[in-house]
Amino acid sequence: MLVTEHLMKEHQLILKYVDLLERYVELSAKNNESSLLFEKAPFFIQFIHEFADEFHHAKEENILFRYLEQPGVLSHCNPIPQMLNEHGKARELVLNMENALLSNDIDKLEVNGVQYARLLKEHIYKEDNILYPMGGRGLSDTAKSCLLKEYAETDERLDSQSIWCKYEALAADLESQLNAYPSAILL
Ligand SMILES: [Fe+2]
Ligand SMILES: [Fe+2]
Repeated sequence: MLVTEHLMKEHQLILKYVDLLERYVELSAKNNESSLLFEKAPFFIQFIHEFADEFHHAKEENILFRYLEQPGVLSHCNPIPQMLNEHGKARELVLNMENALLSNDIDKLEVNGVQYARLLKEHIYKEDNILYPMGGRGLSDTAKSCLLKEYAETDERLDSQSIWCKYEALAADLESQLNAYPSAILL
């Protein structure tokens, strides 16, 4: 399996949370259910910090992008500065969500949650369809196997298996609680 395939698998879990976040925000906004969003937002924030940022974005920044920025790999254009800029924006939005929670500001929490979801969907689309395929074409086989080795070592150091177990279980929990919520049928 290529590193980009591993990273695309991580994208799928991030998209799952993004979809759930949008659904919780929609429930809150349409049905005035702010207490449910206030209750669940810390779990989304925890996932964003631990999985989307420290587990996924950090591996892109510290491993993949370093290889892609080697001379001659990205021949036509270099989308990496834009990708880094979007990682930075995502960090700002999650900080805004944390501040909204601290100040009990439901509007700010909803707005930043929606913006985070939108940003991540677009960001992941660009990586899956533009950046990663460019890397696949530009990297040599030797570079790809070195990259995979570094990725695997990092995964082991970060205890990837337990991170995956923890966050797949949390996603299932967040989804079943959302589906069980009586007002959810009004969406
Ligand atoms: Fe990224
Ligand atoms: Fe990514």
